[in-house]
Amino acid sequence: MTKDVLLWDETIFRNGEILEMDYLPEYFAHRDTQLQSLKFSLKPAMRGMRPVNCLIKGPPGTGKTTAVQKVSNEIKEYSDNVIFVKVNCQMDSTRFAVVSRIYEKLFNIRPPTSGVAFRKLFEKLVKQLVDSNKILVVALDDINYLFHEGHADEVMYSLLRAHEQYPGVKISVIAIISDVGISYNFDPRVGSVFLPEEIFFPRYGPGEIRDIIRNRIQHAFYQNVVPDEVCERIVDHVSATGDLRVGIDLLKRSGLNAERRASRTISIEDVEKAYDASRLIYLCRSIRSLTEHEKALLSLIAKGGDQQAGDLYKSFHEITGLGYTRFYEIIEKMNSSQFLDADFSGKGMRGRTRLIRPRYDPQDILKCLE
Ligand SMILES: Nc1ncnc2c1ncn2[C@@H]1O[C@H](COP(=O)(O)OP(=O)(O)O)[C@@H](O)[C@H]1O
Ligand SMILES: [Mg+2]
Repeated sequence: MTKDVLLWDETIFRNGEILEMDYLPEYFAHRDTQLQSLKFSLKPAMRGMRPVNCLIKGPPGTGKTTAVQKVSNEIKEYSDNVIFVKVNCQMDSTRFAVVSRIYEKLFNIRPPTSGVAFRKLFEKLVKQLVDSNKILVVALDDINYLFHEGHADEVMYSLLRAHEQYPGVKISVIAIISDVGISYNFDPRVGSVFLPEEIFFPRYGPGEIRDIIRNRIQHAFYQNVVPDEVCERIVDHVSATGDLRVGIDLLKRSGLNAERRASRTISIEDVEKAYDASRLIYLCRSIRSLTEHEKALLSLIAKGGDQQAGDLYKSFHEITGLGYTRFYEIIEKMNSSQFLDADFSGKGMRGRTRLIRPRYDPQDILKCLE
């Protein structure tokens, strides 16, 4: 065997864990202003004061979740008075689910899922905060998902106005919006109590991407596993989407591709093969969070191309047995979450009908639905 060939018990990964999505990187550069703003907003908590609420906005993969995680870890080190809860709104997308998550953090036990009213749960939680004299900071991560079903306002309202009903309770909110080109607005009643410090996370430029990717390569792989031109190819792919997650996923998958062919180095082909899957991670993640009925509709749209709403409804009804109202609600939700375009067109026998078309490549949608 030549020395270019990897033995079965050898690996090119020095520390593969660094390429996992939920890994909190030690090296977190190019986000100093954002980290500073976050720290200033949360600092009052160290002196027993309610922190300033924050609204964090930026495209996917720009370090929003990581920044919040970093700052919260730092605060936890300095103070026992602050309880920090991060809620992933893609998973917990109702008011009850959000409050259950906070409850779990406070009491170390998941509340019963049925038979308890939201109010009861919330009251118990608030009382615990007042009695223990602790400050609660809730980070609502990817709060977009609360908007789709219309829960964002009630969640924000409950948290931010709690002190009016329960004097002495100190809760503040960090709302994180993944900016995907739609504008999300809170109800004015929420706006008047939210008054956030707004922190923007812009897309990384190619230089910043290169720096971050190089650092990951250095820690994740042994020396000389990733040649310069391969690194550049990855930087190009990340620059095209601006989503660093794609780059980290690309590193992992192309590394595995190289190992599969027992190579000690990653090649451009390994990257290209990996890119087929990596570029879809965002779409697939969003599709996974849909209900079965929503997936059924998306599948019909992907298979049938542009369709009149009426025709689409017929096929949808045949499969699911659901009525027009529910169908229409799902169309509206998927329109606002950018899966499809639902335009009015002049066509159709009875004047204006709606033309429904997918916003993603139908082949890609079907791949993620598999
Ligand atoms: N400045 C940075 N330095 C190092 N890694 C970063 C940086 N920004 C983002 N990442 C990495 O990119 C991935 C996506 O970051 P994340 O914070 O989840 O983005 P967002 O919440 O904005 O979608 C994570 O794996 C994170 O570790
Ligand atoms: Mg995030």
